Amino acid sequence: MWHPDAAGRRCLALPFALGCGGILLRVVAILMLLEVEDLKVSFHSRDGVNEAVRGISFCLDEGKTLAIVGESGSGKSVTSMALTKLLPPEPLCRVSGKALLDGRNLFDLREKEMRDVRGKQIAYIFQEPSTSLNPYYTVCNQIAEALKYHRVDVLDVGAEVVTLLDRVGIRDPDKRAKDYPHQMSGGMKQRVMIAIALACQPRILVADEPTTALDVTIEAQIIDLLKELRASLNMSIILITHNFGIVDEFADDIAVMFRGEIVEAGPAESILAHPQHPYTQALIKCIPKLGVKQKRLPVVDYAELEE
Ligand SMILES: Nc1ncnc2c1ncn2[C@@H]1O[C@H](COP(=O)(O)OP(=O)(O)OP(=O)(O)O)[C@@H](O)[C@H]1O
Ligand SMILES: [Mg+2]
Repeated sequence: MWHPDAAGRRCLALPFALGCGGILLRVVAILMLLEVEDLKVSFHSRDGVNEAVRGISFCLDEGKTLAIVGESGSGKSVTSMALTKLLPPEPLCRVSGKALLDGRNLFDLREKEMRDVRGKQIAYIFQEPSTSLNPYYTVCNQIAEALKYHRVDVLDVGAEVVTLLDRVGIRDPDKRAKDYPHQMSGGMKQRVMIAIALACQPRILVADEPTTALDVTIEAQIIDLLKELRASLNMSIILITHNFGIVDEFADDIAVMFRGEIVEAGPAESILAHPQHPYTQALIKCIPKLGVKQKRLPVVDYAELEE
């Protein structure tokens, strides 16, 4: 399990290194945007209890990217959805622990307050844009809806939609705004999803396997776009992925999840160079290397990890 480690310890060490004081405490608060403590999520059904997330802790710093990596079913998406109460209600799903955003525990918020956190503070790009976009509405309507709810300051919603589509790299944005999702390619739909998330000007963007359904060229373009947006908007990103290639070029910190727990976490560079946990070592070994001929790529031997 990870205690506010890579990111958190760095932040907490700062005031002690420089001497304590009000200003320094404010610096810590600015750096550490989100702090998750002992998060547990379980699903309850007639068949029994599924402990999907088993007491994890992590931090996200302002303007930084935390990659959550792990096998399918390890609890990555459930972790991110728990933050803004996007999971089924009790008694079907129980969530405990703390998720502190600016020191305020998100789990204590009422539904009305949480609606202001969703989108404005924490926005999501999900794995499969086709199922996230509404097939009955044009992309213009879908982006406009986010703008009307979260950005009352925007007077010309139509013009802002076109600006956002242009910003995420859609050509002929004024024409394309009138398209329905089925008239767009997978990469374009994913860009629309990013435009919807950006419409809310979130402080934290959760990108849950944003490129899984895309080919490698489009994947590279989407990652470049996210990098550029992170820099220009100073957004913090939680990137959920299986792909260590993306992690390598994009993440500041990594948390590796395995069966509902964080088994290893720290700065991306050190985890990639010196993975400690057998699961992380096995995952990194599976990355194909350019110029190295292999008959078969290694696979993670789960039987070995059980021992
Ligand atoms: N709505 C739900 N109801 C019941 N169980 C659920 C629900 N959502 C997720 N789970 C269970 O929680 C566990 C973690 O799922 P989660 O979606 O977080 O995995 P993941 O790490 O995101 O996997 P993937 O990489 O395949 O997306 C799984 O055992 C899953 O079956
Ligand atoms: Mg998932």
